Amino acid sequence: MRIKNICCIGAGYVGGPSMAIIAKYCPDIQVNVVDINPQRIAQWNDKLLSNLPIYEPGLDKIIQKCRNKNLHFSNNIKQQIENADMIFISVNTPTKLKGIGAGQAIDLRYVEASSREISKYAKGHTIVVEKSTLPVKTAQTIKDILDATTKKNISDNKTFSVLSNPEFLAEGTAIKDLENPDRVLIGGEDRIAIDALVEIYSKWIDKNKVMTTDLWSSELSKLIANAFLAQRISSINTISALCEATGAQIKDVALAVGMDKRIGRYFLNSGPGFGGSCFKKDISNLVYISNHYGLFEVANYWQKVLDINSWQQERFVELIVKKMFGTISSKTIAILGFSFKANTNDTRESPAIYISKKLIEEGAFLKIYDPKVTNQQIELDLQVDNQKNLNKNWIFCESIYDVFEKADAAVFITEWQEFEHLDWLKISNIMIKPSWIFDTRSIVNIEKVKESNLNIWQVGYGY
Ligand code: UDX
Ligand code: ADP
Repeated sequence: MRIKNICCIGAGYVGGPSMAIIAKYCPDIQVNVVDINPQRIAQWNDKLLSNLPIYEPGLDKIIQKCRNKNLHFSNNIKQQIENADMIFISVNTPTKLKGIGAGQAIDLRYVEASSREISKYAKGHTIVVEKSTLPVKTAQTIKDILDATTKKNISDNKTFSVLSNPEFLAEGTAIKDLENPDRVLIGGEDRIAIDALVEIYSKWIDKNKVMTTDLWSSELSKLIANAFLAQRISSINTISALCEATGAQIKDVALAVGMDKRIGRYFLNSGPGFGGSCFKKDISNLVYISNHYGLFEVANYWQKVLDINSWQQERFVELIVKKMFGTISSKTIAILGFSFKANTNDTRESPAIYISKKLIEEGAFLKIYDPKVTNQQIELDLQVDNQKNLNKNWIFCESIYDVFEKADAAVFITEWQEFEHLDWLKISNIMIKPSWIFDTRSIVNIEKVKESNLNIWQVGYGY
């Protein structure tokens, strides 16, 4: 089966970049990305590439090359579903906020809505590929909805094959990850559908890297990959506290440990805890499933990975207050970086949100700078909580040096590259004395900071 028309439902951090790459490497395929959000689609279609809804290095060049040729963005969901031979579902899968499984289970309402639209508008045979970031028995839900319609309208001649094809891209390196993935995983039962998807990927990826399995194993593998990655971060973060208490240096410890091939050197950077749309959500779901199957020890084990993540952020706030003579009330604190990691404008589950809210609750006034996150996004993230109007207690700074002006302390939360090369003498001259630098990512040049008459604390270093 040769695919000519692809539709992707959901023009977000997964749908946008992954479809851009398919369009780039498969010029014979028309790729239509649709979304219910008209503003998001308008941003994808904006002539000014700096206005794209997501910041991802290298993405703008591909959009420029393929947009309106074989890559299209629209709100025309019905028509694009009708035209498609293959439909990717890339909608959001947040954690349930209320009801059974609140705080742990996945809210499948958007996946369900998309499946219903597909069942309504699709024509002929359609391959439905589940790509959404959190897939846990989601493919079965999609299958059930599609099967129900097929059975009901036998005269329609509609048929569906459902595949799971979890996306392993990390934000900030999405284009690199998509162009050169460690593996492509495809779960499903229909060999013809699997081969059609393999054919697409083989346009730029070695077929040896494509692994096929059943639906549920594919979905679970994605969940477990994220759980293992998050577990490494919690592990190294516990050791950062031990290093601070004992005087060892976390970077050297991580390097020495990671040089063992069995452990590996990646993903061992201690910091303010993991953020992003996946890790917390995936592990919460793993805890939920394990409890569901009566595997309470398994659930408790993974719950600890989440607990350590929160603890790391809580201890940072306590430490900041303690170092600043036990109070930050009426003091000004600069926040450097608001996205959950460098090279993205995404703030979902960003450690900066928790840390900023807590500092404001303690009475501080914040000056916030991030090279890619907008003022409006920060406003949404710091919105009124428990009737306390947090918005009054912070301002957004457009320029990096403004953020230090008359600040008592500066907290580095995201590892943006521009933070590594700052004029510390200039900063020292504009901050209030005694001034503190809290580096939660160990990225600043400690010698230069000390030479500039500033106090410094770095994660994982005891002085
Ligand atoms: C993650 C997975 O890496 C990706 O495979 C999956 O598809 C989606 O979830 P993402 O959340 O975009 O990707 O970014 P990632 O690079 O994994 O970082 C997640 C969080 O962990 C960030 O907050 C990052 O700062 C933090 N992190 C990462 C560390 O604190 N230390 C590290 O060594 C690595
Ligand atoms: P992810 O990081 O998983 O890509 P995002 O939140 O960035 O998540 O993107 C998901 C996108 O899916 C959003 O732009 C949202 O508007 C869109 N979406 C959700 N439900 C539907 C639906 N039923 N039809 C079309 N688009 C949808």
